[in-house]
Amino acid sequence: MKTYIGALCLVLILFSCKEKQVTFVDDIAPMVYRSCSPCHRPNQIGHFNLLTYEDVKLSSAQSLFTMQQRIMPPWPADPKYRHFVGENILTQNEINLFETWVKTGCALGDSSRIPAIPKFPEGSLLGVPDLRIPIKPIQLKDDYEDQFLLIKVPFEIPQDTFMRAVEFVPGNTEVVHHVNGDMVKFDFTKKKNVFDGDLVSPMKLDSTIKMAYQKIGILQDDGSYPTLSKSVVNYLPGVIAQQYPDGIGGWKLNRKNAFLLADLHYGPSAKNVWDSSYINIFFAKNPPARPFQEFQMGTLGVSPIIPDLIIPPGKISTYTTRYKLPRAISLVTINPHMHLLGKSFKAYALPPDGGDTIPLIHIPKWNFNWQNFYTFEKLLPLKAGTIIVVEGVFDNTANNPFNPYHPPREIRDNMGSMKTTDEMFQFIVTYLPYQQGDENVSLRR
Ligand code: HEC
Repeated sequence: MKTYIGALCLVLILFSCKEKQVTFVDDIAPMVYRSCSPCHRPNQIGHFNLLTYEDVKLSSAQSLFTMQQRIMPPWPADPKYRHFVGENILTQNEINLFETWVKTGCALGDSSRIPAIPKFPEGSLLGVPDLRIPIKPIQLKDDYEDQFLLIKVPFEIPQDTFMRAVEFVPGNTEVVHHVNGDMVKFDFTKKKNVFDGDLVSPMKLDSTIKMAYQKIGILQDDGSYPTLSKSVVNYLPGVIAQQYPDGIGGWKLNRKNAFLLADLHYGPSAKNVWDSSYINIFFAKNPPARPFQEFQMGTLGVSPIIPDLIIPPGKISTYTTRYKLPRAISLVTINPHMHLLGKSFKAYALPPDGGDTIPLIHIPKWNFNWQNFYTFEKLLPLKAGTIIVVEGVFDNTANNPFNPYHPPREIRDNMGSMKTTDEMFQFIVTYLPYQQGDENVSLRR
């Protein structure tokens, strides 16, 4: 009997081993194509390719490490707190599978069944644009310096229309780091020529927003500021431009127009290179049924930071900002923003009737490089009187590898200054006025 059971066990073990053989063809390729290849392919930001069996095998040990440490794929928001559209996260099972694959010698599997490498669209990740607007080409020197530029992108079209999506397409992905872009809504009784000015201004240490706006012709002819539609076009490596379902969002597009790339960040370059990035516009047939509205909390926003954002050297400090909603809204997209001293970020909502806390976002390990815009899976209604609470932790010790100063110095949010080494603590909220039934409206397109 004993030998019989023993033999059965052996058979079972052998059988399950055979069952469990992890192969590139069946297990690894689909996961890598989905979660890694969008960035790790030619002319993308990932520095090396993760496309073929050889690619993945070659970097398998390093890849496993970055997966286990949750460094790759980059997705700073904690999925246990809140899920978002376009979330790129590996499950623990997937990581375990990859680990088994590496430990068992990176088997290829049945090579006749290798899944085809996905076709990534050229020139746009959204489709065929109705309009492509070039951005003034920028020359980068081989000085290994980061550059932060303010750029105006003016254009004229035959008539006023509407648009549903805008996409920034980097020309040179080795150097383009990220962009936050607004749409400028000039008052045409006060602005004759949208093309005037220099178009490009470095965000210098000693210049103010007003000086920079003057230089690139953002101010109107009488010196007044135009209105801005904030965060209309954003780019971050690996993140596909926001597209919302029909009827949600969209903008009116004036005949004469300009985008303001409020912060185009170029990473350090070892070569003299040019970047020719451009913007794709996708028109809409109808005026936006429910145009977006936006507010920001914290720095330059509707709610003060408590205490004031003065971050003492050598310390880890926590700051909070709270905002009570004057009316019922439905949240669409949120964007947490801090600079190099950011350590963690959390936002939640407290309903007025004492109901359960509504988790919004938790970023346990802030990373300046990955400043995503996070779109909720469904519209998220918040009642009038709800208090949004945002907590930011800043690490101004020498242990923070991103600290721009050694030894650390006192850092503040200097209103209107453009020093990138100044701190910011912001929570940007895109929303719609609440309508009945919003809780059931999906934001997946
Ligand atoms: C959003 C774009 C993006 C995605 C998705 C992505 N990577 Fe990366 N990866 C990068 C960038 C950018 C770097 C360079 C990191 C840096 O310079 O800080 C990088 C670096 C790496 C490195 C080198 C790490 C190091 O310390 O230099 C490995 C290994 C890696 N990625 C593996 C992966 C794997 C495996 C996946 C999928 C599970 C993945 N990446 C998904 C953008 C991405």
